[in-house]
Amino acid sequence: MLVSAQEMLTKAKAGRYAVGQFNINNLEWTKAILLTAQELKSPVILGVSEGAGKYMCGYKTVVGMVNGMLEELRITVPVALHLDHGSYEGAKACIEAGFSSIMFDGSHYPIEENVAKTKELVAICKEKGMSIEAEVGSIGGEEDGVVGAGECADPKECKMIADLGVTMLAAGIGNIHGKYPANWPGLSFETLEAVQKETGTMPLVLHGGTGIPADMIQKAISLGVSKINVNTECQLAFQEATRKYILDGRDLEGKGFDPRKLLAPGAEAIKNTVKEKMELFGSVGKA
Ligand code: 13P
Repeated sequence: MLVSAQEMLTKAKAGRYAVGQFNINNLEWTKAILLTAQELKSPVILGVSEGAGKYMCGYKTVVGMVNGMLEELRITVPVALHLDHGSYEGAKACIEAGFSSIMFDGSHYPIEENVAKTKELVAICKEKGMSIEAEVGSIGGEEDGVVGAGECADPKECKMIADLGVTMLAAGIGNIHGKYPANWPGLSFETLEAVQKETGTMPLVLHGGTGIPADMIQKAISLGVSKINVNTECQLAFQEATRKYILDGRDLEGKGFDPRKLLAPGAEAIKNTVKEKMELFGSVGKA
């Protein structure tokens, strides 16, 4: 059964480790992540962006697929199904469809509007026993070929949003979605420390987990980060393994064209990436 991310993140914050949010794109992704979490006895959060939700034929299809896998693969570790960077409408649709957690990304609204919309969604999530993530200070990333710098959140605004009763808070600390540019100055631990001071026991979320060096990840966890989002790194691992399979001509050997064979190396590569991250984040054996 899907669970809210509340308990796993409260435990992570108290135990000074982080739970990984791994974004899913299809059946192979979901299966690879769930099997790895079960093997490593780690709690896990499956992230679904609005685009990926659409790709997978809608939120109800995603809920059906994930619930089916939990049962048929006998997954017993805590699993949350979480909307990633949800709009107000997307959040409502996921609540309706049976997700166990949502992120409402109101970071692009003026703070008053972010507060009002977050408040409304917090009330609905509380009633349904779901977890809710809010964001302050937008996360940078590539748009039209230009990599925007990650903003640093205002710690006072973080406190304002945290006090609305959200489960976890994503604060921009110079992090970026996708690959980091060569001249990236690194995470702003100064900002993170200030946010942590203002928000106390609130689990903090680090987006853009791809390509952040291990020592920065560990320092971020020591300063209160208890959820780390990883997406691009699994995509790159899948791409590299699939590319190799084809370039090695394995799709031309025997039944190498069978999608169950063609997609297997990519799925294995996702498992390895997820394993590596769970070990780095310290969530292994914490289920
Ligand atoms: P990356 O794609 O950089 O790993 O970021 C993932 C993320 O933050 C999803 O919200």
